[in-house]
Amino acid sequence: MSPTTYYIIHLVSLFVLFGYTFYAFAAPAETRKKVLMITGIASLLVLVSGFGLISKIYQNQFQGWMFVKLGVWLALSALTGFGYRRRGAVGALSVIAIALALVAVVMVYVKPF
Ligand code: HEM
Repeated sequence: MSPTTYYIIHLVSLFVLFGYTFYAFAAPAETRKKVLMITGIASLLVLVSGFGLISKIYQNQFQGWMFVKLGVWLALSALTGFGYRRRGAVGALSVIAIALALVAVVMVYVKPF
């Protein structure tokens, strides 16, 4: 697949992942199964397209910022489930989600290491 295809998959699945993560923070409990399925698929697509980009653009040469993004991805993927279980903490979880997005975007555009 071309790098452009990976870029498109990466960004669209990120929009879906973030959108449904915030939805999970306010959605009724009965939506849990469906939302966890959607965020699970979106999360997998973010990871696969991320590695696709690493292979196509960076010839599989791993750099520090990629590992930071992997950490962000792991944390973000866990947030949806937390949102349903910890209703009292959704304010804090929202701040964490925004902070994670900031870190990932800074990593990809600044590439500090
Ligand atoms: C979950 C949080 C993540 C966010 C918010 C995020 C966000 C982004 C954004 C905004 C871009 C730039 C697209 C562009 O310039 O057109 C990008 C590119 C990229 N992402 Fe992610 N990403 C995430 C996760 C990951 C993961 C887990 C990986 C690796 C496994 C990854 C690897 C990459 C690579 C290699 C690029 C291309 C960088 C370049 O063009 O120089 N990303 N990502």
